[in-house]
Amino acid sequence: MSRTPLIAGNWKMYKTGPQAVTAATVLVKLCTGISNPEIMIAPNFIALQQVAQIFAGSPIKTGAQNLYFENQGAFTGEVSADMIKEAGAEYVIIGHSERRQIFGETDESIRKKIKSAVLSGLKPILCIGETEGQRDEEKTFQVLDKQVSDGLKGFGPDELVDLVLAYEPVWAIGTGKTANESQVDEVHRYLRSLLGKLFSQEFADQKRILYGGSVKPENAYSLMGIEDVDGALVGGASLDADKFINIIKYNESII
Ligand code: 13P
Repeated sequence: MSRTPLIAGNWKMYKTGPQAVTAATVLVKLCTGISNPEIMIAPNFIALQQVAQIFAGSPIKTGAQNLYFENQGAFTGEVSADMIKEAGAEYVIIGHSERRQIFGETDESIRKKIKSAVLSGLKPILCIGETEGQRDEEKTFQVLDKQVSDGLKGFGPDELVDLVLAYEPVWAIGTGKTANESQVDEVHRYLRSLLGKLFSQEFADQKRILYGGSVKPENAYSLMGIEDVDGALVGGASLDADKFINIIKYNESII
């Protein structure tokens, strides 16, 4: 089963508009001619439209980091899927652990966000992952099972053709601690079999499951070599164009 890997950069709440424009321009030069892996950057909302314009015609796709599930209305401070799509994004990250933990997002609101993304033609990247405490209590699979089952409840497989899953163990995000290869392998296998149970084996085989959490040039090659890992969701290292391009070129990496 061939799944084109996706290397996605989540810029989080970094880079002002001008800084994002500069970084995007540098990335376009570095990524010229790359068709595999697929590449995506999710800048903040302020920079989204300008960055999407810079990426247009290049191999780099644009994503948003969040959305609100209503189309429009009196929802101060929020941005809808249609607005994001219109600004030039193709992907949207949904349910990132920072949104779950800091902004109180629930599996229920995440499900509505996925629905809204799907209806607008945005490709949702659903983030899931256990905390350190949950792993220590051996609840990792239980937590992931709930996040996936509840987040995708009620969807038919046809609605989720463009869905991407991103496994990001919370304890590995921004900490420099990467899950080891056997931990990643075990979880990604589990997630694919869970998708098989919830939908079908064909559906599961087609889905890309990214790993996120302290991905850097030094570990990209070994992580991407794991059978059920279909790319990476990169935070800190995506802010630095040299590091990010070395992750994108993990196959050529000699680090
Ligand atoms: P780091 O790569 O900085 O650990 O962040 C991962 C992440 O949260 C990507 O969404």
